[in-house]
Amino acid sequence: MSDAQQVLAESARRRTFAVISHPDAGKSTLTEALALHAEVIDSAGAVHGKSGRKGVTSDWMEMERSRGISVSSAVLQFAYRDQVINLLDTPGHGDFSEDTYRVLTAVDAAVMLLDAAKGLEPQTLKLFDVCRSRGVPVITFVNKWDRPGREALELLDEVEQTIGLRPMPLTWPVGIAGQFRGLVERETGAYTAFTRAAGGATKATATAVDATTIAAQEPEFWRTAQDELGLLDEIGQTWDEKDFLSGIATPVLFGSALSNIGVARLLDTLVDLAPAPAARADVEGHDRPLDAPTSGMVFKVQAGMDKAHRDRMAFLRLCSGRFERGMILTHAATGKPFATKYAQSVFGNERTTVEEAFPGDIVGLVNATALKPGDTLYASGPVEFPTIPAFAPEHFAVVRCKDAGKTKQFRKGIEQLGTEAVIQVLRSDLRGDQAPVLAAVGPLQFDVVSARLETEFGAPVTMDRLPYKEARLTDAEAFQVLSAQSETEVLRRDTDGAYLALFSNKWRMDIVMRKYPDLRLDAMPAGT
Ligand code: G4P
Repeated sequence: MSDAQQVLAESARRRTFAVISHPDAGKSTLTEALALHAEVIDSAGAVHGKSGRKGVTSDWMEMERSRGISVSSAVLQFAYRDQVINLLDTPGHGDFSEDTYRVLTAVDAAVMLLDAAKGLEPQTLKLFDVCRSRGVPVITFVNKWDRPGREALELLDEVEQTIGLRPMPLTWPVGIAGQFRGLVERETGAYTAFTRAAGGATKATATAVDATTIAAQEPEFWRTAQDELGLLDEIGQTWDEKDFLSGIATPVLFGSALSNIGVARLLDTLVDLAPAPAARADVEGHDRPLDAPTSGMVFKVQAGMDKAHRDRMAFLRLCSGRFERGMILTHAATGKPFATKYAQSVFGNERTTVEEAFPGDIVGLVNATALKPGDTLYASGPVEFPTIPAFAPEHFAVVRCKDAGKTKQFRKGIEQLGTEAVIQVLRSDLRGDQAPVLAAVGPLQFDVVSARLETEFGAPVTMDRLPYKEARLTDAEAFQVLSAQSETEVLRRDTDGAYLALFSNKWRMDIVMRKYPDLRLDAMPAGT
């Protein structure tokens, strides 16, 4: 097999996805359940049972533990059937939606996890919007079917009505939520009964049962399920690959991550139906073929993930070619070489050296001080993938170093957190270097900055919130006019030098817009 053929064959085996859900819908439980079904490739020992749950959710900061949120992202890579699955972790809290957005630029599909009792929740909706805007196909998994919840048809209706995504159930539950008996395969009619062993075992046992037997055992539940299946056929909620891939319909599965119901079916669906990596378009809109020389996109930069490793890691999604540890890549933004001697995979606290990777895989590059989210690395050919847009910030605060003796550390810390895109750093001559403005999509980002400046850089800070609510992209020409307006301020963003105009409220902004219709005041993508 030639090298190009091998790259194509390997990338065709990859399925790279993330789970989007509202906190508590069962993302961590599902991640564990998926991993338990699979042969973990790189992260031997990283898969824990329930007691070792914290090994699955990344726990690099005390704050994550105390608030039960996951800020950092990690990747679980495992083999299932003859495929390689890359599951990217996304932060659960809405305040880190920008971070989740970046992760979603690196996946080829998403699993939308719904709690059977709650249906579509706010964070799920926001994340789904991101998938839609990026054309990421979505598989829906209705979780917690082992306990009382809403009716299956009602949940499907909610998905269709609220987000306009046509549900295409692949399996159908027999028995109502809480009195769940088993799942029917829509295509074949095959029925699997799930029974929980006596004595409180959480994992259910799956048994194939023929239709006549179940019809006799559970006549009422079976009849209802058959009626519902008939209805689904009538209203056209049937599998259509084109509609799935173009993001207008979603295959739906029912199950329980905790009881291990429907989890293997989800993996089968990912393998059989989710798309493999495809050629990615560069900034000029040209697709970079999968078998072109090695290239990838940095979607996340993270420092201090683990107190034992005080380093900074860039997560690279491979877009083309074969990656080999040690190869020298070019950093498209600067044209400088980047050595990949320290390539790792990261999952929770586990790190393993990566020797080789293919399109769809994620490689963690250690000591990546020059890299920022959205950057491209390539082996040859120059290529640059589109950068990741910064979200419209809605919360602003002036940050100052508490200790005059720590000014250097403070400056270094702010600069690094800005490059990592933990927060947007804005400055103006008026405010000076010692008091930059931090701009966030969610206020928890301030807490992360504050904690990291203190623990990683030894620079405790104070934060004073500013009363701005609206931000627009503007330019140097508009600077004078806008600076003269009341309740308005213009600042420059560190990472790209962009001018941001901040307004105390929308009303104030509208007045300025009406008064100066020719000023550039562009909206940014909304994060909340
Ligand atoms: P998250 O990562 O999305 O925030 O959710 P997580 O997996 O932590 O699950 C939230 C809660 O829902 C957990 O209960 C978990 O055990 C439960 N859960 C997840 N999947 C299922 C399921 O299929 N069925 C049922 N019945 N429960 C499920 P908890 O009480 O908050 O935590 P724990 O004390 O059980 O760990």
